[in-house]
Amino acid sequence: MDRVPISCSPPPMRVLSGIQPTGQIHWGNYFGAIRQYIELQKHEQAFYFVADLHALTTVRDAAQLRKNVENAALDMLALGLDPARATLFVQSDIPEVTELTWLLMTVTQMHLLEKCHAYKDKKAKGLAADAGLFTYPVLMAADILLYDSNLVPVGQDQIQHIEVTRDVGQRFNTIYNTEVFTLPEPYTVQALAKVPGLDGEKMSKSYNNTIDVFEDPKKLRKKIMSIKTDSKGVEEPKDPETCSIFTLYKLFASDEQQAALAAKYRAGGMGYGEAKQALYDGAMAVFGPAFERRAQLAANPDTVRDILRDGAKKARAKAAQVLDKARAACGLGGR
Ligand code: TRP
Repeated sequence: MDRVPISCSPPPMRVLSGIQPTGQIHWGNYFGAIRQYIELQKHEQAFYFVADLHALTTVRDAAQLRKNVENAALDMLALGLDPARATLFVQSDIPEVTELTWLLMTVTQMHLLEKCHAYKDKKAKGLAADAGLFTYPVLMAADILLYDSNLVPVGQDQIQHIEVTRDVGQRFNTIYNTEVFTLPEPYTVQALAKVPGLDGEKMSKSYNNTIDVFEDPKKLRKKIMSIKTDSKGVEEPKDPETCSIFTLYKLFASDEQQAALAAKYRAGGMGYGEAKQALYDGAMAVFGPAFERRAQLAANPDTVRDILRDGAKKARAKAAQVLDKARAACGLGGR
């Protein structure tokens, strides 16, 4: 008799992450975070949102913000976020999140927020910070706790915020003797978290050394050609392991392709221009299909609007349940 297969795969985790609509997605964002988000939709229950409320701390132009939100949604969909598998929504379409932010604010200790980097960095520069920037991590905690999230895929710089989230969620649970909030874990892939930029430093908007995923191909080529290298001549053997071009190439190439280019580096007779061309070709091969999908979606704004509306409906149903429990736990409503 045939045996009945026993499924031993664990139940799906609820994965959630937010994307700041503050500009273009660059290679560092993609390989450090976004690619992982999109992978996770295959086996987990994924919620992704465009963090427009957070963006208000930096974007102060209504038309610009609207455009950025639209672009962020287009980017995610073009890069493979599948609305049939994952829920995509805009943060401010779920008003529950701002109410939960207040509830959490009342149990958040100041010293936790004083340590958070966005605020601390601004203060260290002698700049005045708005309360919104100071309490940014509490809104982020609300984002996460509102959907019973188990796993939060983020870049390295956001791990601190997940720690604040756990702390605040735990404190609420303890104070009100409840288990309303699920405490999340951060999720990062170490090996890929560091993507070098044009100058060899970590790729980051604040270093002005980024390459955007949807960079116009001509500009992309120019940027790649400007990547800093050492001054070894064409004939000299080169070390792939210390070269930013090779580090970037690895992101796009198969093991065989990587081995082949590494061998050329070591053999000598290959100039950096050739390695840069290989990087350009690799990037176009990987991102080319996304360029096409993005153009198609951009030509059909109704489709994107419907996806976001559906996403908000699903997200809101979950948010309302959790917020109700949180309100009840601390004595609001119930009359
Ligand atoms: N602060 C995150 C960033 O700058 C964006 C974000 C907002 C987020 N809310 C979130 C990420 C909740 C994960 C979970 O990248």
